[in-house]
Amino acid sequence: MATTILLLLIINFLYITLAYDPTPLQDFCVADHTSTLTINGLPCKDPSTVTSDDFFFRGLHLPGNTTNPLGVALTPVNVNHVPGLNTLGLTIARLDLATNGFFPPHTHPRATEVLTVLEGSLEVGFVTSGPAYAQFRKVLEKGDAFVIPIGLIHYQRNVGTGNAVVFAALNSQNSGIIEVASGVFGAEPSIDSEFLARAFGLDRKIVEEIQDKF
Ligand SMILES: *[C@@H]1O[C@H](CO)[C@@H](O)[C@H](O)[C@H]1NC(C)=O
Repeated sequence: MATTILLLLIINFLYITLAYDPTPLQDFCVADHTSTLTINGLPCKDPSTVTSDDFFFRGLHLPGNTTNPLGVALTPVNVNHVPGLNTLGLTIARLDLATNGFFPPHTHPRATEVLTVLEGSLEVGFVTSGPAYAQFRKVLEKGDAFVIPIGLIHYQRNVGTGNAVVFAALNSQNSGIIEVASGVFGAEPSIDSEFLARAFGLDRKIVEEIQDKF
């Protein structure tokens, strides 16, 4: 009996620790952004105070401001904007890319991403894990969709002559983002430049120049 209970506890523990954005056990758990509780996700509002607006967002038809060095804008719709998304494992976003705009190589540690191009031409590529590091790449036109599997390094860039508008869906309420170059060269405090020089087969001066850019 005790063994059975112990086994069930272990299975339960494994289930919880291996799962991400797990299946909800209720109709909804609308995020209570005023709570100070620290849990995995956000605590639920009293269901009797939930309204339609908790599940609503207006404005995805509006272009973002792409006047910045990357020439891009990200308009996310996640649990911070729509509290009703809490625990449901989903985020959507509008991406705007000016001519030559790009999102540098990055990964989302907790989400697979699906991109759908609404306007323009978008090059998108992802790279598999080592030792193959195989690149899968496509140029997407209006109406095309492309899947970026969870955790893999990827990039997007506008290869058309006008703006690109892209709709993104991610299967996490908090996908996370790790920009590869920022993570390595922009770490705070910085990773030892002599070590990075050895790791990348570069001159230490070059590494420090790159680090200065972040
Ligand atoms: C877009 O962003 C730039 C740079 O931050 C700013 O100067 C400009 O006023 C913004 N444009 C609009 C329409 O908000």
